[in-house]
Amino acid sequence: MTAYAKLYVNRRCRCKFWSCFRRYRPIASAGSSRIAPLSVAAPPPSSQASAEAALPLPAMQKLREGPWLQIGYPDGFEYNRVTLRIRGLLPAFASLRILHLTDLHLRPGWGPSFDELIARVKADPPDLILFTGDLVEHHFDPRPAYETAGRLVRSLASRYGKFAILGNHDGDLLGPMLEGWGLNLINGRTKRLTIDGGAIDLVGLPGVHKHDLTDDFLARVPAKEAGVLRIVMTHYPDTVRRIVNLHADVVLAGHTHGGQICLPGGWPLMTHDTLPKRMCQGVHRTHGTWLIVGRGFGFSTWPFRLFCPAEVIEVRFAGA
Ligand SMILES: [Fe+2]
Repeated sequence: MTAYAKLYVNRRCRCKFWSCFRRYRPIASAGSSRIAPLSVAAPPPSSQASAEAALPLPAMQKLREGPWLQIGYPDGFEYNRVTLRIRGLLPAFASLRILHLTDLHLRPGWGPSFDELIARVKADPPDLILFTGDLVEHHFDPRPAYETAGRLVRSLASRYGKFAILGNHDGDLLGPMLEGWGLNLINGRTKRLTIDGGAIDLVGLPGVHKHDLTDDFLARVPAKEAGVLRIVMTHYPDTVRRIVNLHADVVLAGHTHGGQICLPGGWPLMTHDTLPKRMCQGVHRTHGTWLIVGRGFGFSTWPFRLFCPAEVIEVRFAGA
């Protein structure tokens, strides 16, 4: 192989799209110019594997139908509910309701979908609202979207708070704005909540890029405590491979948009993620945890969605 060919292989993004070629920054290990491989955890012990197999994969309950074609601004969304079985769940959390929102990609302007989402949430506020990144569309100057973002975030009601991490479209300017809108930024932090006498650890993985998740950060996350519900928030679904030692009960992710532009039946043409394409949306049991990948609420780059409606997911829990 020629030197040029070796360089090409080493620098090419795993998602195989040219648009990512220029954004990709290889992670070099100390003293080496080679790209560090993505950490892949060892498979679980056989006893754990058999216990995993006993957990039934829950179905998404579609409470609102979304449009098969969306052009321009969000003009509809699918509202899904999923109930996850958790071993050792405190009885108090059997009534816990979490709203997962991701990839809103807000721009200047307002759409009827926002009003409907606000009204739906106001009529029956969830306990928590969790955002997993890409609140705004434009990386370099999100300021034109601030009015829309602030109005929407402030208008969404929850009983115990709203928490967010950043995605690859959220630049440094956005973070300081979030607190003023009532949104708690937990990028690179663990937040302990006490709700109805039970404890929840929200672990916000650092961003905005995938390579911001370091082994040092993972080593600093406190060990999981028995009886504490642990929810990890990440923008990138495939980081589930690296966080097995966090022992998350649930991992919430976005980034893929479910493909955004799909073939009939929802089969994605691209996902910008290294997990199998079938895992670019929905709920999955993998690496010892529940992984929920939201399709997102907005549009990125191309202003339309095809066979891939915008989505809001309500997460509930049950003992196992
Ligand atoms: Fe996104």
